[in-house]
Amino acid sequence: MINLKLELDQLYNFVSKEELNAFDRQVISAYRKIYNKTGAGNDFLGWVDLPSSTPDDLLDQISAHAKSLQTKSEVFVVIGIGGSYLGARAVIESLNSYFATKKDTPQIIYAGHHISEDYLAELLDYLNNKDYSMAVISKSGTTTEPAIAFRMLRTHIEQKYGVEEARKRIVAITDKSRGALKLLADSEGYTSYVVPDDVGGRYSVLTPVGLLPIAMAGINIHELIAGARKMEAMSRAVQKIHGNPIAQYAAARQALYQKGKTNEIMVNYEPKLFYFSEWWKQLYGESEGKNQKGIFPASVGFTTDLHSMGQYIQDGLRKLFETVISVEKPKHELRIPQADSDLDQLNYIAGKRLSEVNLMAELGTTLAHVDGGVPNLRIRIPEVSEDILGQLIYFFEMACALSGYMLEVNPFDQPGVEAYKKNMFALLGKKGFENQTAELKQRLQQKK
Ligand code: PA5
Repeated sequence: MINLKLELDQLYNFVSKEELNAFDRQVISAYRKIYNKTGAGNDFLGWVDLPSSTPDDLLDQISAHAKSLQTKSEVFVVIGIGGSYLGARAVIESLNSYFATKKDTPQIIYAGHHISEDYLAELLDYLNNKDYSMAVISKSGTTTEPAIAFRMLRTHIEQKYGVEEARKRIVAITDKSRGALKLLADSEGYTSYVVPDDVGGRYSVLTPVGLLPIAMAGINIHELIAGARKMEAMSRAVQKIHGNPIAQYAAARQALYQKGKTNEIMVNYEPKLFYFSEWWKQLYGESEGKNQKGIFPASVGFTTDLHSMGQYIQDGLRKLFETVISVEKPKHELRIPQADSDLDQLNYIAGKRLSEVNLMAELGTTLAHVDGGVPNLRIRIPEVSEDILGQLIYFFEMACALSGYMLEVNPFDQPGVEAYKKNMFALLGKKGFENQTAELKQRLQQKK
């Protein structure tokens, strides 16, 4: 049974139930495109039945491999960018402790998700005194950021352990037959896992792309997939708005967009979900933002950002709506102590759990923002667990695909990502890009 609840009470002042239900035809048609594979980008629908079609054997194999790597790793470096690291990071940071690593599991460090010289230099320095292993994750195998990081880390790990041992500490996760990384992995004999052809980067967290790093962090990937399977089954069984929270969320977003609410803010009250929002932003931003259309995905963490972004949300340009992930049960229990001197004036809440205060902050904020003209969708989850995250991942993936088709864009390509790369390659003088080099340099010169 799925145990995620979508609450729409704070939507209905802005979109009536009738207006929402009017999207049913569009939802049904989008669902048909997905399950019959007749929509744009239909060669990238491998994620649709990925949870149910992932063999338990593969999960066992990944878990066992992670266990053996854990025994020799104080640190595990995950090299990847975009869809090749965000899903793993979202799950790992949502589930693991803020401060301590689990017994017998390595610290997870990310690399290859930017080109900061200082970051990489400090990482290499840190790794001098740590036992480590790493995964290099790139579907294409040619993405500049992870390729640079891998080149540097590979040199480091080979110098530290010798080439033979380094090979045992490097895992490659890439395309099954094409690409530079696949060639290298084969020639070096790295253990490798496949990113299925029909699963795009941002839909790949439930493939080895996400599963190996997640398992390395000591997280139960069987339960994660079990959660996703539940949501997959619900989605397939109810391909309409009534009784299907995925369809309701997609329809609500579409209804709000048509009323000029062009910016969606993912809100959490639990800082561990920060990277879950980052994953969600990539999923929605890359899937919907094309042909001069699409909802702009943003995120905040409350109550922290109520002291920075709260003013704008309450009172700025009225193009916003919020989607709150509300966690019912924290892992720990802490109560506010009574104090003899009540100088901080907190005795009125002494004895209360912090989660009660956090909940009142959430409910109060929601009402204030709704009063200020910001519609609010609330996704209630009982706890942050593997099972629930699996459900949430599939929920957002399917809602994203539905949303893309309702918006009449291809939710599975990302042609716009190439523009910066072309310019960067031209400015760096890469072979094949020379024609643009002079023109770009001249444009930069004019600016000065
Ligand atoms: O969603 C996507 O396809 C992208 O964000 C990719 O995941 C990202 O660009 C990394 O690509 P690759 O895995 O080929 O290195």
